[in-house]
Amino acid sequence: MTAMRILIVHAHPEPRSFNGALTDSARALLPTIGHELIVSDLYAMEWDPVSDRRNFTIRADPERYDQQAEERFAASAGSFSSDLRAEMDKLLWADTVIFQFPIWWLGMPAIMKGWIDRVFAVGVAYGGGKWLDQGRLAPRRAMLSVTTGGGAAPYADVGLYGPIDPILYPIHHGILRFTGFQVIEPFIVYGPSRMTELQRAATLAQYRLRLMNLASAPTLPVIHAADYENFVRRQA
Ligand SMILES: Cc1cc2nc3c(=O)[nH]c(=O)nc-3n(C[C@H](O)[C@H](O)[C@H](O)COP(=O)(O)O)c2cc1C
Repeated sequence: MTAMRILIVHAHPEPRSFNGALTDSARALLPTIGHELIVSDLYAMEWDPVSDRRNFTIRADPERYDQQAEERFAASAGSFSSDLRAEMDKLLWADTVIFQFPIWWLGMPAIMKGWIDRVFAVGVAYGGGKWLDQGRLAPRRAMLSVTTGGGAAPYADVGLYGPIDPILYPIHHGILRFTGFQVIEPFIVYGPSRMTELQRAATLAQYRLRLMNLASAPTLPVIHAADYENFVRRQA
């Protein structure tokens, strides 16, 4: 089995939550099967999700703040703030990234969105016409591991929220595939708080199985930048 360098970005305020149990399972398992593991536990780190001038130690333009222009400058000058640099180093070190979070308002908790807003900077995660399979973060792989409040019913075709795939699409496509990740099928736990202890234990066992088979887990279709660019040319 090929050893992987895995980064788990974990966003849950309560260590004894089901999200906490999922990440604890990963912590216990992954090193014992030969993988290297780093966990960024965002609440424990008191991660600051607000993306602004404080991302930079030097400003390209002190008069008017343009975040992407500042990022482009900082990527070449090496002037990201130290908290950002530390997370960027972990991201670039990893070949596989797992995002562990509860669905909040059909998206990710703000602390995790803020990690992406700040860490996925121009010149680090995207920019220079590099995207999709040619993206700066290729050939990394990523997987969402998420929990929901209700059971599966609200996520049925005619359910309150509707199917989960379109809900996760902005993350899968707009963030991960855009920056070059190959996206592993998500691990979704519907309504862990409605489960019996036995069901929760069985779900944790399924997660361990997924982690053991991470290298061969199915992925979403790759979109080739060349195909997209040909498509745009044909529309012009
Ligand atoms: C601010 C907030 C927003 C939430 N929004 C949703 C939602 O849109 N859909 C949903 O299924 N559950 C929602 N929930 C419920 C959580 O997803 C649920 O409590 C969590 O996934 C259970 O995992 P845990 O036991 O690890 O906390 C929300 C919870 C909070 C606190």
